[in-house]
Amino acid sequence: MNSFQTLAQTRRSTRKFTDEKVTEQQLETLLQTVLMSPASKSSNPWEFVVVQNPETIQQLATSKPAGAALLKTAPLAIVVCADPQKSDVWVEDCSIASIYLQLAAEDLGLGSCWVQIRKREHESGELAADYIKRVLQIPEHIEIESIIAIGNMVERRKEFDVSKASVEKIHQEKF
Ligand SMILES: Cc1cc2nc3c(=O)[nH]c(=O)nc-3n(C[C@H](O)[C@H](O)[C@H](O)COP(=O)(O)O)c2cc1C
Repeated sequence: MNSFQTLAQTRRSTRKFTDEKVTEQQLETLLQTVLMSPASKSSNPWEFVVVQNPETIQQLATSKPAGAALLKTAPLAIVVCADPQKSDVWVEDCSIASIYLQLAAEDLGLGSCWVQIRKREHESGELAADYIKRVLQIPEHIEIESIIAIGNMVERRKEFDVSKASVEKIHQEKF
């Protein structure tokens, strides 16, 4: 079993995936874990759209001109979205859920990458979120934070170099 620090150190963004599918058991673990994400006031405003259809994933890969093409080889994409009427801090709730998915994937030996959707535009100039809402039939009032691409890594990247950590970011007692 990985310790949390090892997990944090070895997780690196994966942008190339093998043809191997994510197993049903792995998917179940991912979904069980993400539903344990903490949310403000336990409002659980999030919704998750699990996409494994390769054609749909190709459509998601063009959500924005840069930074989404990595989805092309992903066997699994989980769209993290929320009902903003259920929480004024849905962005934070969705962000926590997104990183839970990434860490759960790492724990399963899978690679993952966060694809930012909120505040990003499709090449047509419309919001990337509006494009995705059409593709996935997501109701208009739902906001989209991210798409988490998940799959087996083509190669494992070097772990985080702890000696290069930005220690100057840490302030003791006062800024
Ligand atoms: C909020 C957020 C948004 C991100 N958006 C994208 C994205 O749209 N496309 C992408 O390829 N990577 C994206 N990433 C991945 C970051 O580029 C990556 O985590 C960062 O460079 C650190 O590298 P590492 O994850 O390999 O340690 C995003 C990460 C975060 C936390």
